[in-house]
Amino acid sequence: MKHTKVKDLLNSAKPVDDVLVKGWVRTFRNNQFIALNDGSTINNIQCVVDFENTPAETLKRITTGAAVAVKGNLTESKGAGQKYEVQVTSLEILGDSDPEKFPMQPKKHSLEFLRENAHLRVRTNVFGAVMRVRSVLSFAIHQYFQEKGFVYVNTPIITGSDAEGAGEMFQVTSLPLNNAPLNEEGKIDYKQDFFGKETNLTVSGQLEGETFAMALGQIYTFGPTFRAENSNTSRHLAEFWMVEPEVAFNDLDANMDLAEDFIQYVIKYTMERCKDDLAFLDQRLTDEEKTKPTAERSEMSLLEKLQFVLENNFKRVSYTEAIDILKNSKPNKNKKFNYIIEEWGADLQSEHERFLVEKHFKCPVILFDYPANIKAFYMRLNEDNKTVRAMDILFPGIGEIVGGSQREERLDVLQQKIAELGIDEKELWWYLDTRRFGTAVHSGFGLGFERLVLFVTGMTNIRDVIPFPRTPQNAEF
Ligand code: 4AD
Ligand code: MG
Repeated sequence: MKHTKVKDLLNSAKPVDDVLVKGWVRTFRNNQFIALNDGSTINNIQCVVDFENTPAETLKRITTGAAVAVKGNLTESKGAGQKYEVQVTSLEILGDSDPEKFPMQPKKHSLEFLRENAHLRVRTNVFGAVMRVRSVLSFAIHQYFQEKGFVYVNTPIITGSDAEGAGEMFQVTSLPLNNAPLNEEGKIDYKQDFFGKETNLTVSGQLEGETFAMALGQIYTFGPTFRAENSNTSRHLAEFWMVEPEVAFNDLDANMDLAEDFIQYVIKYTMERCKDDLAFLDQRLTDEEKTKPTAERSEMSLLEKLQFVLENNFKRVSYTEAIDILKNSKPNKNKKFNYIIEEWGADLQSEHERFLVEKHFKCPVILFDYPANIKAFYMRLNEDNKTVRAMDILFPGIGEIVGGSQREERLDVLQQKIAELGIDEKELWWYLDTRRFGTAVHSGFGLGFERLVLFVTGMTNIRDVIPFPRTPQNAEF
């Protein structure tokens, strides 16, 4: 007999006899009511056990976390808040769960505790909802680009190039560690590695993506990227997923248009398909806000924030204008934005970004035309010889969610920049070929997928929106 998903039972048009449902017990009340969840929806189905005719031995084994198969009749429920329930005719315990040992008790656990149990936390309502939303968001990303005729490109994970030039790479070795050649300091000599070449885990698929855009026109990548930055923040992971579209003949303005349209599309798509999960996460956040002092409470609920992003254009502001705004802003009295006013040329700290987005403009902001010396080598130099055609998209509560640029398409200018930075041109011969043969204006950006999931779910720590977070403290799984 085929089993039916809880979601389909709850959406049934009418009562049905003889259904089979399989899932995990969330709670069991009064020896009678099982709240059963199978992951298909945030909602549980109530299964009413005929306890007088069920052996005591079986009743004892209906514990939180146990896997069960329930047969019965789907009937209209008299209880509040649920349309249907299952009147159980037979019940089989598929897998026991010792209530003394199962860590996921039917109570509110702290997110810190749950992080220690990444393999089990997905059995909670919060993580179930976040992971379903994440899944739908990733599908929305493919849907958007596929509808627009972009080609999905898989760029290398093991690579010889440092796309961002920031030196934040994990090195890769194919050598047996107990027999690796050592350098003068007695450390493993990675230079000899990957079959004779020094290689790393990719920090970005952009450079390879550009070569494909210069043939296929519009491409996107969507894959794991790695950064060996030791940032213990709630916005950084050592392993995260990035979406990187790259489009031939797009200038920076077209790049901004694409990024804005893309973000609005995927949020809208997800809001339409994850109503129950988002309603749950919205309520969770509202409850959490109530525990804060009134002055610190968010003015908008999660769903209102999402709707706001859909309905409002992102504010486009040059780096130079942003510095002027920051210089002319009085330090905030309640110290929430304890920023130092910076001079032109400095990189913006996250407090600056959050001030601009949350206090000054109160909407998503696209900052563009940054000083050349704080951005990567491949960005298009402006006519002022000082700034580059870079853009960062800043989101409320998150900070930078997208980084992108129009690329330097002029071979001589690019070669000069590479020389200035002391990068070996030979390492990038293949990249420079895009400028040697049929070069053209082109642009792209990278969206940090987990930062988008943070925004859409209203979670506040990036470790809570990826199934198995890899951070300096956590690489257990
Ligand atoms: O700004 P980034 O470093 O840009 C690039 O890598 C470009 N090659 C992208 C491109 O133009 N194709 O990274 C892009 C985005 C950031 O805006 C941020 O959202 C996210 O990736 N990101 C991280 N997310 C989580 N953990 C980290 N350690 C991250 N580093 C960057
Ligand atoms: Mg960036």
